[in-house]
Amino acid sequence: MKTLIVYYSRTGNTQAVAELIHDQVGGDLVALETQEKRPTNYRAEVDLNAREQLANQLPTLKTTIPDFEKYDRIFIGAPTWNMALPQAVMTFLAMYDFTDKTIIPFNTHGGYGAGQMVTQIKAAVGDAVVLPILSIAGGEEINGQLLAIEDTVKETVAKEVTAWLQKIG
Ligand SMILES: Cc1cc2nc3c(=O)[nH]c(=O)nc-3n(C[C@H](O)[C@H](O)[C@H](O)COP(=O)(O)O)c2cc1C
Repeated sequence: MKTLIVYYSRTGNTQAVAELIHDQVGGDLVALETQEKRPTNYRAEVDLNAREQLANQLPTLKTTIPDFEKYDRIFIGAPTWNMALPQAVMTFLAMYDFTDKTIIPFNTHGGYGAGQMVTQIKAAVGDAVVLPILSIAGGEEINGQLLAIEDTVKETVAKEVTAWLQKIG
């Protein structure tokens, strides 16, 4: 079994969960980054992402994944943005062929859950198997809280990751 853990993260919460998964299952850990720098200002990012969503625009990724076809299972991690996937993750989904792969989504959010994430992934990966998502409360940048998954919270999340991995086998 060749495992890829790919994630997109602005303020480190989804990255923290990705690293916890990596600690437990191993494999290759890859952060998705856009070619063009994204706005650092929160409001500017909310607006830009919403415009891209509306226009179905896919920001170009700087990240490429060599030998993508060698992976059997792919963890895909993303924060909830505007109750959906960040458009950069939509770019990733459009770039690769997921036929015969097992997809395992994970998410952090600011209090409102994963939104359309699973629906969007299922629509993009054709008949690939999609296992149950792990969705965890992360930061609330809107209220000034950036990285929440650290210290004792991180220890609790590590246990949630273990329980979820056991459940999905
Ligand atoms: C552009 C943007 C849009 C967001 N939209 C939502 C949302 O619709 N619902 C929600 O619960 N959280 C939303 N959030 C909060 C993030 O999902 C949350 O802070 C997450 O933990 C961030 O993950 P990260 O630290 O890996 O970037 C949004 C954050 C950003 C930056």
